[in-house]
Amino acid sequence: MLRIKYKGLFISIEGTDGCGKSTQIPLIKEYMEGAGHNVVVMREPGGTAISEKIRSILLDTGNTAMSTKTEILLYAAARAQIMEEKIIPALKEGKTVICDRFVDSSYAYQGFGRDSDLEEIIRINKFATSGVMPNITFFMDISPKVALKRRMAAAATDRIENEGMDFQVHVHAGFHALAKRFPERIKVIDATQDVNSVFSKIKEYIILLGGQKS
Ligand code: TYD
Repeated sequence: MLRIKYKGLFISIEGTDGCGKSTQIPLIKEYMEGAGHNVVVMREPGGTAISEKIRSILLDTGNTAMSTKTEILLYAAARAQIMEEKIIPALKEGKTVICDRFVDSSYAYQGFGRDSDLEEIIRINKFATSGVMPNITFFMDISPKVALKRRMAAAATDRIENEGMDFQVHVHAGFHALAKRFPERIKVIDATQDVNSVFSKIKEYIILLGGQKS
């Protein structure tokens, strides 16, 4: 069953770098608004003044000495701040929150990508989020090689993106493992399809969730 704790719907969208999340998010937003939802979009890490400062430390290509534990805790810290400051209040007000990345990014990037203790990361994030989880999570599934081609078109890369193809492959496998572990929440979306087909699939899940009010 769905873990609906607040009035608002909580949707997160995940995937390896270059999976097309940023194309789908405005479409989901527009669709939900059309169905009568008051929608806010957030991105992780970031979304508050403090979280954006943490983001700049995390993505700074100069921070090559950052330990995995520091990385895990900084992502969790940025998340704790956006939860308390923005996400929980919005959900309490009955708003629909669409979050560009959430805990599953930490599970996949730090847990699988960095080969760090997943159960510990889950515990740390439970503390950071007060256990508030998305009603549904879309994993935009695309092979990291295809995603890399898409990313080549974009100019600058950040510290995490500077990790090699092996890292992306582990992260991608990690998202699949997570989708198997949390099948009720995480839905795998074939992100190799054209924009409209991808969106149709997402829409089907939103309708099933009862996100279509009219
Ligand atoms: P961002 O520019 O937001 O990337 P994208 O557009 O791909 O979402 O940068 C976020 C980077 O941080 C991205 O490479 C994924 C990584 N990340 C983690 O490693 N762990 C996390 O918990 C989160 C939220 C992001």
